[in-house]
This record gives sequence, structure tokens and C-alpha cells, in this order.
Amino acid sequence: EIYLRGSMMNQRPRRPLDWQRLEEQAAATLARGPWGYIAGGAGRGDTMRANQAAFDRWALSPRMLRDVAQRSTARTVLGTPLPAPVLLAPIGVQTLAHPDGELATARASARTGVPLVTSSASSFTFEEIAEASGDTPRWYQLYWPKDRTIATSFIRRAEAAGYSALVVTLDTWLLGWRPMDLDEGFLPFLWGEGNVNYLQDPAFRALLAAPPEEDMQAAIGQFAFQFSNPAVTWEDLAFLRETTELPIVLKGILRADDARLAAEHGVDGVIVSNHGGRQVDGAIGALAALPEVVDAVGDRLEVLFDSGIRGGSDALKALALGARAVLLGRPYMWGLATGGEDGVVDVVRSLLAELDLAMALTGHRTIDDVDRSALVATP
Ligand code: FNR
Repeated sequence: EIYLRGSMMNQRPRRPLDWQRLEEQAAATLARGPWGYIAGGAGRGDTMRANQAAFDRWALSPRMLRDVAQRSTARTVLGTPLPAPVLLAPIGVQTLAHPDGELATARASARTGVPLVTSSASSFTFEEIAEASGDTPRWYQLYWPKDRTIATSFIRRAEAAGYSALVVTLDTWLLGWRPMDLDEGFLPFLWGEGNVNYLQDPAFRALLAAPPEEDMQAAIGQFAFQFSNPAVTWEDLAFLRETTELPIVLKGILRADDARLAAEHGVDGVIVSNHGGRQVDGAIGALAALPEVVDAVGDRLEVLFDSGIRGGSDALKALALGARAVLLGRPYMWGLATGGEDGVVDVVRSLLAELDLAMALTGHRTIDDVDRSALVATP
């Protein structure tokens, strides 16, 4: 369709399908603070670079003459049938990129059938986001607050709003050292956009001496106190398991022994992720950690992956290494920044198209056909 429009009607795509150029456009669109928050990483950026380098260590090894005329990227992930093993990663405060923020992303999710994992730090309430995502499945990401009554309230709200899995992020009890944000003194989810789910939550409000409308300073202080919860341990997972019947997915696992602990504690899935290199600088590239996690627990729970997916071939490499699905992060923010809902749709569609082509051109008809034999290690 794109080539036809180009040659017959002299019509180019609305925005670059080359994600490097799209990223440049997004950078040019946004002010320094928001751009630094989205693009930046922890410390010197070594983990972000390691995420990219980890993809370079594997190459796809195409097979020929395999009849790939009829094919499908469909896959069921944690009981949810999806058009492709792709979800949109939880990203907070999306109004930084576009005034419609998560509502635009949720509408794009509805149009593409690719689920959004809604962040606890979203700039609209997760009820509003649920409504905007229509009939497309949606998952909820919990930043587990200190007070369990708030955690329970968030989970009940997510259940009532039709979220079908609970993603619990483990790597952000404390915010990483992020020089780009520190230099700007910029922490968007503390002030304004990003704390709305707390400020409107009945259990949170019950803890305040005065409602946020009367004493915002105290409310923000309580929010910051609740948000940071570094004393949590594996034993606490029992509380989540007892609180909800939704599938529980632990996000931020990077080691085989932690993955085994996750399996022993009765969760349904893990996401191998280093938060896009935003938390620990000098950490292992996420893809480098994927094979050992899959080998340790792949037969007991579903292993998902994010951190560094920058195209269909990257997604295919992660799937070949045993990821049940991948989550797309920053690239959809580039679409959101440059084109709102349509921008996210374009980014998601191009990822799905490139994944389908990479699957076919390497000689696979379905995602389930893809395994480690599709890859060779490169020196
Ligand atoms: C994130 N990420 C994130 N994760 C999470 O569990 N809750 C959140 O609120 C956020 N917020 C957030 C904001 C921004 C601006 C970014 C870039 C990332 C992490 C996200 O889910 C995912 O792990 C990474 O984005 C994956 O890395 P790449 O592919 O974006 O490099």
C-alpha cells in the first residue's frame, strides 16, 4: 500500500517509517525536559548501549524454500489471544509527549489490537484509559505503594476497569540516577501529570489529613512517600497472590535465580527487562539475560521481554530466544510525540509489518515455528 501510494499518487507516508528519523523528529518536537525524561537513561548510558549491543550478538539465519505464503503472527499470551506477540510497555506521564497522552495511545491500541500496559504513573486515570482502549485487551502495571490499602484499591480499580493482567514492576522502588533529568531538575510524575491515580484514589485520600485540593504540598509528600517502597521482599508477593486472581507478571527480572524464585512464588509470568537502561547503569543488556531466564523457568511460566526493541528483527530475535511476547517502549513515544494517536498507530503497524516480514523471510509461517535455530551467535 505504501509503495503503491508512493509510485501512483506521489504520496509519502505521513511521518518517517525509519525509526531513527522518527526519533530525531520527536527530539525536535519536544522541549528539553520532556525529551530528556523520555530518551534519557541511568548514569553514563552504559546499560542503554548494552541493550543495543546485546541484539548485535545474535544474527538471524534465514532458511529458504519453506512455503511462507500463508502465515500468522497471532499468539496467545497469558491466556489472551493477540494479533502478534507484542504489547505496549507501561510508560508513565505520556502527556509529556502529547496532550492526549495515554488516551491517544489507548485509542491506537484499540485500532491495532495491540494491548497497552497502563502505568500506575499515567497522566489520566486508568479508568479513563481503559475506556479509550475499547475492546482491546489491556493490562495494568502496578508500582506497589507502601500502604497495602492503596495497593488493594489500585488492584480493585484495575479489575473493575477490565484490566486482565497485573504487571508488578520490581526495579523502580527507588528512581535511578538520571543525569539528564537531574540537570533539568525535572521529575514530571511527582508534580502534576502522573500522580492523578493517587490523588483521586479513595484509599490514598483517606490517609491525608486534608484533601489534595486544600493541601497539595502534603498530598505530594504522601505520594512520594508511598511511591518509594524499597523494603519489599519475595515474601510480600503472597499478599498480591491473595489479593487478586488476575495473572501476575513480575517486570524487571534479569537472572535465572530470581526467575526461579518468581516461579516458586506462584506468579504467572516475568518480563526480562532493565527498564530501558533507566535504573541501574552498567547493568547487563536485557537480551543477554533472556536465554538463561527462559532456560530456568520457560516451562513453568511465561517469559516476556523488553528493553531495546527497535524493529521487527529485534522482536524476532527475542522471540527466537524464547520470549513469549515483547513489549515496545520508547519508539511508540516517538510516534506519540510526532503524531498523537495516528503516530502510535503508524509505529505499531510498522513493527507488526516488519515482524511479519522478518518471520517470513527467515522461513517461518508462524511465531510458534520460530526457535533458537533461527539465530547464530556473532563474535
Ligand atoms: C518507562 N518504563 C516504565 N516502566 C514501568 O513499569 N512503569 C512506568 O511507569 C514506566 N515509565 C517509563 C517512562 C519512560 C519515559 C520510559 C522510556 C520507560 C519502562 C518501560 O516499561 C520499558 O521497560 C522500557 O521503555 C523498555 O526499554 P526501551 O525499549 O524503551 O529502550
